Amino acid sequence: MSKVFKDKNILIGISGCIAAYKSADLTSRLIKLGANVKIIMTANATKLVQPLTFQSLSANPVYFDTFQSTERWDIEHIALAKWADIFVIAPATANVIGKAASGIADDLLTTTILATEAKTLFAPAMNTVMYQKKVVQDNIAKLKRLGYDFIPPGKGRLACGDWGEGKLADIEVIIQHIEKHLNSSTKRDMEGLRVLVTAGPTCEPIDPVRFITNHSSGKMGYAIAEACIQRGAAVDLVTGPTNLQTPAGANVFPVESAKDMYQAVLKLYEMADIVFKSAAVADYHVKEVASSKIKKGQDSIKLELVRNPDILMELGKRKTKQVLVGFAAETEDLEKNALEKLKRKNLDFILANDVSSSESGFQSDENKGILFSKDGSITPIPLMAKKEFAHRIIDEVIKKVKSD
Ligand code: PMT
Repeated sequence: MSKVFKDKNILIGISGCIAAYKSADLTSRLIKLGANVKIIMTANATKLVQPLTFQSLSANPVYFDTFQSTERWDIEHIALAKWADIFVIAPATANVIGKAASGIADDLLTTTILATEAKTLFAPAMNTVMYQKKVVQDNIAKLKRLGYDFIPPGKGRLACGDWGEGKLADIEVIIQHIEKHLNSSTKRDMEGLRVLVTAGPTCEPIDPVRFITNHSSGKMGYAIAEACIQRGAAVDLVTGPTNLQTPAGANVFPVESAKDMYQAVLKLYEMADIVFKSAAVADYHVKEVASSKIKKGQDSIKLELVRNPDILMELGKRKTKQVLVGFAAETEDLEKNALEKLKRKNLDFILANDVSSSESGFQSDENKGILFSKDGSITPIPLMAKKEFAHRIIDEVIKKVKSD
């Protein structure tokens, strides 16, 4: 029995492809490895393989597209979504991939894909021409960008008699992918570390009802906080105003202005082993904040702005044991500007965040950038979901922490 699989809840989604019979082997192998397995089948899959086969192998009821009891069905998709440590759709047809890419949830399988927060892997299986169609490849690329993973199909003789790409990956390969993800989701390489994360924008008041702010949503910082908690760290999260759910397990310190953030961060700094400074801090504040709402009597008014303290610069000056990770939101000369900040602020890493396009940086669910270390390593991180992006940054930072 394997340590990685033991008592893990693995949900298998089976869609209507002849390779559905191979999922019986997958189920049996996972059970032997010590996992708990539950199965969802689409209506078409049940025509190819009897649900009873999977029920017998998994020793669990098989869930499929039944609307006999709408109430129960509703409860089931949420219950299964929450139960799963990992969700593997094998085989995944072009139809299921297309629906998932479009957010369509019209049966139990696709509804559960939408409802789960568990890592979701697709193992496609279909005819070569279908697999290579641009629309299918675009759907796969979109899902990958959203954080879903794919186990590429193999090449060989397909059930339709054609030769080519589109065969369900070998069961051994699917198991290796599941193992890799179970390993990384249970990676507890930050245990014993205290991490300070800053997230979101700051708001600089003009009068009691107005303020100056920026487009930061907090998504990047919150993703880092969540990833650190998942990996076992104690996390202090100093956050400007956001609409996000606070990450479970974080000590949250809400702030408004850059000055508030400065004070909160400096109080927590000494205890921190690693600092991720992803907040978008205003460089200036209004010199004289009006005590009552400014009336719109005059044609123009002047606001005098004065510099805010540079929090990260101050952390760089006071650094003792901390590993300091800065972020640089750049629209041009990404590398040059980021390296200048790395040096000037005495950082260990800087993530040069390309905020020139709407698909990454501020507000988006995805990010891309380049992580530079003061030791000279350069790690480009392509466009991916912010949670995955956070893990990639942490992977590099942890290597340094462990090697010191
Ligand atoms: O919140 P999201 O919508 O998910 O967007 C994420 C993000 C784009 C805000 C994030 O990934 C990012 O790039 N954050 C840094 C934004 C920024 O302020 O960059 P900067 O180049 O202006 O500042 C460089 C570094 O100095 C940053 O780590 C910043 O936190 C820090 N700084 C800046 C000014 C200041 N007065 N004090 C600081 O500590």
